[in-house]
Amino acid sequence: MKTKVHLKRWEFGKGDVKIIFLHGFPLDHTIWHPVLPYLQDMAHCVLPDLRGHGESPDPDGIYTMPLMAEDVADLMDELDIDRAILVGHSMGGYISLAFAKAYPQRLLALALVATHPLADNENKRQSRLRSAEIIEKTGIEGLAADMPNSLTTNAGLRTQIQKIIQKTSPQGAASALRGMAEREDTSSFLGQIQVPTVVIAGEKDSIVPLTLATEMASKLPKGKLAVVPNGGHMPMMEAPEQTADALADLINRVGRTNT
Ligand code: MLT
Repeated sequence: MKTKVHLKRWEFGKGDVKIIFLHGFPLDHTIWHPVLPYLQDMAHCVLPDLRGHGESPDPDGIYTMPLMAEDVADLMDELDIDRAILVGHSMGGYISLAFAKAYPQRLLALALVATHPLADNENKRQSRLRSAEIIEKTGIEGLAADMPNSLTTNAGLRTQIQKIIQKTSPQGAASALRGMAEREDTSSFLGQIQVPTVVIAGEKDSIVPLTLATEMASKLPKGKLAVVPNGGHMPMMEAPEQTADALADLINRVGRTNT
Protein backbone atom coordinates (compact mmCIF):
# COMPACT_ATOMS: atom_id res chain seq x y z
CA MET A 1 0.00 0.00 0.00
CA LYS A 2 1.52 3.30 -1.07
CA THR A 3 2.08 5.96 1.56
CA LYS A 4 1.31 9.25 -0.16
CA VAL A 5 3.96 11.86 0.44
CA HIS A 6 3.94 15.56 -0.15
CA LEU A 7 7.31 16.20 -1.75
CA LYS A 8 9.02 19.38 -0.65
CA ARG A 9 9.80 21.35 -3.78
CA TRP A 10 11.30 24.64 -4.90
CA GLU A 11 10.29 26.56 -8.02
CA PHE A 12 12.38 28.92 -10.11
CA GLY A 13 12.01 30.81 -13.36
CA LYS A 14 9.05 31.20 -15.60
CA GLY A 15 7.65 30.01 -18.88
CA ASP A 16 5.12 27.65 -20.38
CA VAL A 17 7.61 24.82 -20.48
CA LYS A 18 7.94 23.04 -17.13
CA ILE A 19 11.06 21.13 -16.19
CA ILE A 20 11.19 18.82 -13.18
CA PHE A 21 14.69 17.97 -11.92
CA LEU A 22 15.18 14.68 -10.05
CA HIS A 23 18.36 14.32 -8.03
CA GLY A 24 20.31 11.11 -7.49
CA PHE A 25 20.91 9.00 -4.39
CA PRO A 26 21.42 10.06 -1.53
CA LEU A 27 21.39 13.72 -2.52
CA ASP A 28 18.87 16.55 -2.66
CA HIS A 29 17.51 19.24 -4.98
CA THR A 30 20.42 21.63 -4.36
CA ILE A 31 22.68 19.70 -6.76
CA TRP A 32 20.76 21.47 -9.56
CA HIS A 33 21.31 25.01 -8.30
CA PRO A 34 24.39 25.61 -10.49
CA VAL A 35 22.42 25.14 -13.74
CA LEU A 36 19.49 27.37 -12.80
CA PRO A 37 21.02 30.73 -13.78
CA TYR A 38 21.29 29.45 -17.36
CA LEU A 39 17.77 28.02 -17.61
CA GLN A 40 15.34 29.99 -15.52
CA ASP A 41 14.63 32.52 -18.25
CA MET A 42 13.68 29.70 -20.61
CA ALA A 43 11.45 27.54 -18.45
CA HIS A 44 9.66 27.05 -15.16
CA CYS A 45 12.02 24.84 -13.14
CA VAL A 46 10.69 22.60 -10.34
CA LEU A 47 13.22 21.02 -7.98
CA PRO A 48 11.75 18.45 -5.56
CA ASP A 49 13.49 16.50 -2.84
CA LEU A 50 12.59 12.86 -3.48
CA ARG A 51 10.96 10.83 -0.68
CA GLY A 52 13.47 9.99 2.02
CA HIS A 53 15.86 12.71 0.84
CA GLY A 54 16.48 16.32 1.79
CA GLU A 55 13.45 17.89 3.44
CA SER A 56 10.84 15.46 2.09
CA PRO A 57 9.15 12.86 4.33
CA ASP A 58 10.78 9.45 4.83
CA PRO A 59 7.97 6.94 5.36
CA ASP A 60 8.68 3.21 5.96
CA GLY A 61 8.78 0.82 3.07
CA ILE A 62 10.78 0.07 -0.05
CA TYR A 63 11.09 3.05 -2.36
CA THR A 64 10.71 1.33 -5.72
CA MET A 65 11.35 3.31 -8.88
CA PRO A 66 7.66 3.10 -9.96
CA LEU A 67 6.64 4.34 -6.48
CA MET A 68 8.95 7.34 -6.73
CA ALA A 69 7.70 7.96 -10.29
CA GLU A 70 4.18 8.05 -8.86
CA ASP A 71 5.36 10.68 -6.35
CA VAL A 72 6.46 12.79 -9.34
CA ALA A 73 3.07 12.36 -11.05
CA ASP A 74 1.37 13.38 -7.76
CA LEU A 75 3.62 16.44 -7.57
CA MET A 76 2.63 17.38 -11.13
CA ASP A 77 -1.05 17.03 -10.19
CA GLU A 78 -0.52 19.27 -7.16
CA LEU A 79 1.18 21.91 -9.30
CA ASP A 80 -1.37 21.55 -12.09
CA ILE A 81 1.30 20.48 -14.55
CA ASP A 82 -0.05 18.29 -17.31
CA ARG A 83 3.20 17.56 -19.17
CA ALA A 84 6.80 18.29 -18.29
CA ILE A 85 10.38 17.74 -19.28
CA LEU A 86 11.98 15.37 -16.77
CA VAL A 87 15.66 15.65 -15.97
CA GLY A 88 16.87 12.68 -13.96
CA HIS A 89 20.28 12.26 -12.40
CA SER A 90 21.47 8.71 -11.69
CA MET A 91 18.74 7.24 -9.40
CA GLY A 92 16.62 10.19 -10.61
CA GLY A 93 17.24 8.78 -14.11
CA TYR A 94 16.01 5.33 -13.05
CA ILE A 95 12.89 7.06 -11.71
CA SER A 96 12.51 9.07 -14.94
CA LEU A 97 12.59 5.88 -16.99
CA ALA A 98 9.95 4.34 -14.70
CA PHE A 99 7.92 7.54 -15.18
CA ALA A 100 8.29 7.38 -18.98
CA LYS A 101 6.94 3.84 -18.86
CA ALA A 102 4.00 4.56 -16.56
CA TYR A 103 3.00 8.02 -17.78
CA PRO A 104 4.24 8.46 -21.39
CA GLN A 105 1.49 10.99 -22.11
CA ARG A 106 2.80 13.31 -19.37
CA LEU A 107 6.34 13.49 -20.72
CA LEU A 108 7.42 16.33 -23.01
CA ALA A 109 11.08 15.41 -23.20
CA LEU A 110 13.66 13.56 -21.14
CA ALA A 111 17.22 14.25 -20.02
CA LEU A 112 19.10 11.28 -18.58
CA VAL A 113 22.11 12.55 -16.63
CA ALA A 114 24.86 10.16 -15.48
CA THR A 115 22.45 7.26 -15.49
CA HIS A 116 21.71 4.00 -17.31
CA PRO A 117 18.85 1.54 -17.88
CA LEU A 118 20.33 -1.66 -16.40
CA ALA A 119 19.15 -3.57 -13.33
CA ASP A 120 21.64 -4.52 -10.60
CA ASN A 121 23.52 -7.79 -10.95
CA GLU A 122 23.32 -10.16 -7.98
CA ASN A 123 26.54 -8.85 -6.36
CA LYS A 124 25.40 -5.26 -6.57
CA ARG A 125 21.97 -6.18 -5.27
CA GLN A 126 23.43 -7.95 -2.24
CA SER A 127 25.82 -5.10 -1.53
CA ARG A 128 22.96 -2.58 -1.62
CA LEU A 129 20.94 -4.70 0.81
CA ARG A 130 23.95 -4.94 3.15
CA SER A 131 24.52 -1.17 2.94
CA ALA A 132 20.86 -0.58 3.78
CA GLU A 133 21.23 -2.62 6.98
CA ILE A 134 24.46 -0.90 7.95
CA ILE A 135 22.95 2.55 7.43
CA GLU A 136 19.94 1.64 9.55
CA LYS A 137 22.23 0.44 12.34
CA THR A 138 24.98 3.03 12.23
CA GLY A 139 23.54 6.08 10.48
CA ILE A 140 24.45 7.98 7.32
CA GLU A 141 27.94 9.17 8.32
CA GLY A 142 29.84 6.26 6.72
CA LEU A 143 28.13 6.82 3.37
CA ALA A 144 28.67 10.58 3.65
CA ALA A 145 32.38 9.99 4.21
CA ASP A 146 32.91 7.50 1.35
CA MET A 147 30.47 8.22 -1.42
CA PRO A 148 31.61 11.73 -2.52
CA ASN A 149 34.97 10.21 -3.57
CA SER A 150 33.29 8.10 -6.22
CA LEU A 151 31.13 10.97 -7.49
CA THR A 152 33.73 13.57 -8.44
CA THR A 153 37.45 14.30 -8.30
CA ASN A 154 36.77 17.95 -7.43
CA ALA A 155 37.75 18.38 -3.75
CA GLY A 156 35.52 21.42 -3.15
CA LEU A 157 32.50 19.63 -4.59
CA ARG A 158 33.26 16.52 -2.53
CA THR A 159 32.93 18.58 0.65
CA GLN A 160 29.71 20.16 -0.59
CA ILE A 161 28.24 16.77 -1.52
CA GLN A 162 29.27 15.29 1.82
CA LYS A 163 27.23 17.97 3.59
CA ILE A 164 24.20 17.13 1.44
CA ILE A 165 24.49 13.39 2.21
CA GLN A 166 24.85 14.08 5.94
CA LYS A 167 21.34 15.58 5.84
CA THR A 168 19.79 12.47 4.24
CA SER A 169 17.62 10.40 6.55
CA PRO A 170 19.14 6.94 7.25
CA GLN A 171 15.70 5.41 6.85
CA GLY A 172 15.25 7.21 3.52
CA ALA A 173 18.65 6.09 2.22
CA ALA A 174 18.04 2.46 3.27
CA SER A 175 14.59 2.45 1.65
CA ALA A 176 15.96 3.91 -1.60
CA LEU A 177 18.80 1.33 -1.66
CA ARG A 178 16.24 -1.47 -1.33
CA GLY A 179 14.16 0.11 -4.10
CA MET A 180 17.15 0.38 -6.44
CA ALA A 181 18.08 -3.24 -5.66
CA GLU A 182 14.78 -4.45 -7.06
CA ARG A 183 14.55 -2.17 -10.09
CA GLU A 184 13.95 -3.70 -13.49
CA ASP A 185 16.12 -3.48 -16.58
CA THR A 186 14.52 -0.86 -18.83
CA SER A 187 16.87 -1.33 -21.83
CA SER A 188 14.23 -2.94 -24.01
CA PHE A 189 11.83 -0.07 -23.26
CA LEU A 190 14.19 2.69 -24.51
CA GLY A 191 13.10 2.17 -28.14
CA GLN A 192 9.54 3.11 -27.20
CA ILE A 193 10.40 6.57 -25.85
CA GLN A 194 9.11 8.85 -28.57
CA VAL A 195 9.88 12.26 -27.02
CA PRO A 196 13.13 14.21 -27.55
CA THR A 197 15.84 12.90 -25.23
CA VAL A 198 19.37 13.80 -24.31
CA VAL A 199 21.87 11.67 -22.46
CA ILE A 200 24.34 13.82 -20.52
CA ALA A 201 27.42 11.87 -19.53
CA GLY A 202 30.64 12.66 -17.71
CA GLU A 203 33.58 11.41 -19.76
CA LYS A 204 35.21 10.02 -16.60
CA ASP A 205 32.14 8.98 -14.61
CA SER A 206 33.33 6.06 -12.45
CA ILE A 207 29.77 4.93 -11.67
CA VAL A 208 28.24 5.05 -15.18
CA PRO A 209 30.92 4.30 -17.79
CA LEU A 210 30.72 6.42 -20.93
CA THR A 211 30.27 3.28 -23.06
CA LEU A 212 27.04 2.50 -21.19
CA ALA A 213 25.69 6.04 -21.59
CA THR A 214 26.62 6.01 -25.30
CA GLU A 215 24.84 2.71 -25.83
CA MET A 216 21.73 4.04 -24.07
CA ALA A 217 21.68 7.16 -26.29
CA SER A 218 21.93 4.99 -29.40
CA LYS A 219 18.81 3.05 -28.35
CA LEU A 220 16.66 6.15 -27.84
CA PRO A 221 14.75 6.97 -31.08
CA LYS A 222 15.21 10.73 -30.50
CA GLY A 223 18.34 10.47 -28.39
CA LYS A 224 21.27 12.86 -28.48
CA LEU A 225 24.46 12.40 -26.48
CA ALA A 226 26.24 15.27 -24.71
CA VAL A 227 29.59 14.30 -23.20
CA VAL A 228 31.14 16.51 -20.53
CA PRO A 229 34.92 16.31 -21.05
CA ASN A 230 36.70 15.22 -17.85
CA GLY A 231 33.34 15.18 -16.07
CA GLY A 232 32.52 12.64 -13.35
CA HIS A 233 29.16 11.56 -11.97
CA MET A 234 28.04 15.13 -11.13
CA PRO A 235 28.09 17.08 -14.44
CA MET A 236 25.48 19.59 -13.22
CA MET A 237 27.92 20.70 -10.50
CA GLU A 238 31.21 20.02 -12.26
CA ALA A 239 30.29 21.68 -15.57
CA PRO A 240 27.05 23.60 -15.07
CA GLU A 241 27.27 25.68 -18.23
CA GLN A 242 27.81 22.68 -20.51
CA THR A 243 25.10 20.73 -18.74
CA ALA A 244 22.72 23.68 -19.06
CA ASP A 245 23.59 24.03 -22.78
CA ALA A 246 22.54 20.42 -23.36
CA LEU A 247 19.30 21.05 -21.43
CA ALA A 248 18.63 24.31 -23.32
CA ASP A 249 18.98 22.40 -26.59
CA LEU A 250 16.43 19.88 -25.29
CA ILE A 251 14.00 22.67 -24.36
CA ASN A 252 14.39 24.11 -27.87
CA ARG A 253 13.62 20.73 -29.41
CA VAL A 254 10.27 20.45 -27.59
CA GLY A 255 7.37 21.14 -29.89
CA ARG A 256 9.46 20.77 -33.04
CA THR A 257 8.89 17.79 -35.28
CA ASN A 258 11.78 15.56 -36.39
CA THR A 259 13.87 16.41 -33.37
C1 MLT B 1 23.09 7.83 -7.71
O1 MLT B 1 23.96 8.70 -7.89
O2 MLT B 1 21.89 8.08 -7.72
C2 MLT B 1 23.55 6.43 -7.41
O3 MLT B 1 24.93 6.33 -7.56
C3 MLT B 1 22.88 5.45 -8.31
C4 MLT B 1 23.21 4.03 -7.97
O4 MLT B 1 23.70 3.76 -6.88
O5 MLT B 1 22.95 3.17 -8.83
